[in-house]
Amino acid sequence: MPESISDRKRSHLELCESSPVEYAGKTTLLEEVDFVHDALPELAVDEVQVGTELLGKRLRAPLLITGMTGGTEEAAAVNRALARVAEAKGIAFGLGSQRAMHRSPALAHTFEVRAEAPTTLVLANIGIVQAAALSTAEVEALARAIGADALCVHLNPAQELIQAEGDRDFRGGVRTLTRLARELPFPVVVKETGCGLSRRVAERLVAAGIRTADVSGAGGTSWVKVEALRADEAARELGGVFADWGIPTAAALLACRGLGLDLIASGGIRSGLDVAKSVALGARLAGVALPVFRAYREGGVAAAGAFVDRLIVGLRTAMVLTGARDLEALGHAPLVLGGRLREWVLAGGGA
Ligand SMILES: Cc1cc2nc3c(=O)[nH]c(=O)nc-3n(C[C@H](O)[C@H](O)[C@H](O)COP(=O)(O)O)c2cc1C
Repeated sequence: MPESISDRKRSHLELCESSPVEYAGKTTLLEEVDFVHDALPELAVDEVQVGTELLGKRLRAPLLITGMTGGTEEAAAVNRALARVAEAKGIAFGLGSQRAMHRSPALAHTFEVRAEAPTTLVLANIGIVQAAALSTAEVEALARAIGADALCVHLNPAQELIQAEGDRDFRGGVRTLTRLARELPFPVVVKETGCGLSRRVAERLVAAGIRTADVSGAGGTSWVKVEALRADEAARELGGVFADWGIPTAAALLACRGLGLDLIASGGIRSGLDVAKSVALGARLAGVALPVFRAYREGGVAAAGAFVDRLIVGLRTAMVLTGARDLEALGHAPLVLGGRLREWVLAGGGA
């Protein structure tokens, strides 16, 4: 019997909680980015400003809890808890794929977080292949039903190709994004899911009318690995071959900057220093998924909140040590880039 979307969501959460689902042979390459230390910062920690804005909403820190789940009662509890964290910290919050909700509208409550997060920037979520099959009105209804501010359309061809029941036909993606960007009355954010966006893809997004993109690069959660852990023998072997597929997050950021996109950096962001480096490489926000989920599973809302606090403290520390008073200044901080990252830059970041 084919597995239901709900069963799949359950097994994704279970594997992400405790199995080795992160890249092992590839990193974000953020370790190849060095700031130049400022031994004489004319700054007090308290005057460092980490506030920013995205999609018309103010954020108290440049952070997003990226889309993870929905569709089951367990997922509903995770969404509500992490949305509370986002509201308390003044950061953005993304929901997981609403594909299951389109099939069963009764599942809408598992994505509803407005009661917990009345002022938060909340992002709805749907896959590109599902979005292609829906009318614009149907897509709009999914986001409207949960009071989201904008819609994330996720791109995950690598995951789909390893997943036994995954999509196999990715044609028409640009046409779908062009239609949604033109016809939806709220912004469309395009995100990868851990394999990264290249410059060529970013250029096609811009041509399609997209203004905000999450590069979600390699080095953090690997969806190829997650699917390989769930798969039968043949798919497991294929998953093993492609376990380290993808564009490292730092390389994806450098590739996608300068095109007028508001960039979000996710994929392997694990510390406040990673957040600071992402901003210095051109990101407006950094996004985190796995570590927030794991912190929540270990210690509830308090632990997830403490993880976010640690990111902010680390970011502020990096800002003082580079003499950057605000995120704009951090975006212009001098950087030293190591050899492996420069190889990606020389290759045009996938151009
Ligand atoms: C448990 C879990 C479920 C996820 N589900 C979705 C999803 O439904 N839609 C989506 O766009 N991304 C999904 N992602 C991908 C994340 O949003 C993010 O792009 C990716 O995990 C890289 O970030 P990380 O290394 O911090 O986990 C999921 C991630 C996790 C850990």
